[in-house]
Amino acid sequence: MIITDTINQTRETIAQPRREGKTIGIVPTMGALHEGHFSLIRRCRAECDFVVVSIFVNPTQFAPDEDLDKYPGNFEADCRACRDLGVDLIFAPPTAEMYQRENLTWINVEKITDHLCGTSRPDHFRGVCTIVAKLFNIIQPDIAWFGQKDAQQLAVIRRMVADLNMPVDVRSCPTVRETDGLALSSRNDYLNPEQHRQGLCLNQALCRGRELVADGTTDTNIIIEAMRLIIEKQPDAGIDYISIVDNDLLQPIAAIDRPALVALAVRIGPARLIDNIIVEPPAKTV
Ligand code: PAF
Repeated sequence: MIITDTINQTRETIAQPRREGKTIGIVPTMGALHEGHFSLIRRCRAECDFVVVSIFVNPTQFAPDEDLDKYPGNFEADCRACRDLGVDLIFAPPTAEMYQRENLTWINVEKITDHLCGTSRPDHFRGVCTIVAKLFNIIQPDIAWFGQKDAQQLAVIRRMVADLNMPVDVRSCPTVRETDGLALSSRNDYLNPEQHRQGLCLNQALCRGRELVADGTTDTNIIIEAMRLIIEKQPDAGIDYISIVDNDLLQPIAAIDRPALVALAVRIGPARLIDNIIVEPPAKTV
């Protein structure tokens, strides 16, 4: 496994497998790798000849009052895990390499970023899209993997790739959960055991939402209210949003009459946790 920290070294390293006609896959990450990332890397390993993992905590996707300075990371452990998973190249640049001058060029995906996390994190997806586009330009992967847990990020990146005709096939893997249901996230590291216990309310609320849809409830207000009651039982939980949106442009919908994304963001103590599920409209009986 090769580790690079400059753009030039990275391009030189990838030139060889590209000349040999190998498929290049990338899993972009911010490090602090966990089973969720590992599932993406395993898929990438299974479906590509040359596997790149980028590790870069991207400052432009954090607002000034967010957790950039304390974002968890353990580079040695990440490298060990990548080696064990058969990664070919880790690209781990310092900030000054990725942003060599004042950044004046940004990628904004409209509409899909209007709701959900876009409301409380207005510049977040601009930072995500810009760094992902830079990584795509540097690595020029054939395939890139992202987790379904960041459903809005996935939708935004898919749209950026489509709108800008980027020659990358964007693929996703399902959310990986602890056995107790908590969706894996690097930010789970911020939780003490009691906060972890309270964090289970996100998955519990989503399960209740799924159950209501399965029982034939289609009114999204009723589903959101039922989910809210579950979250509000937890003393340390602060709801950022509970939303039900269409699974394409992520616009709020009044009824589950098409595939829908049920998504929520909840602050539990020091961590802002997100989670989601996709639900299908109940089958029509004739
Ligand atoms: O999902 C993440 O870890 C980040 O948002 C990404 C895609 C690596 C961009 O910095």
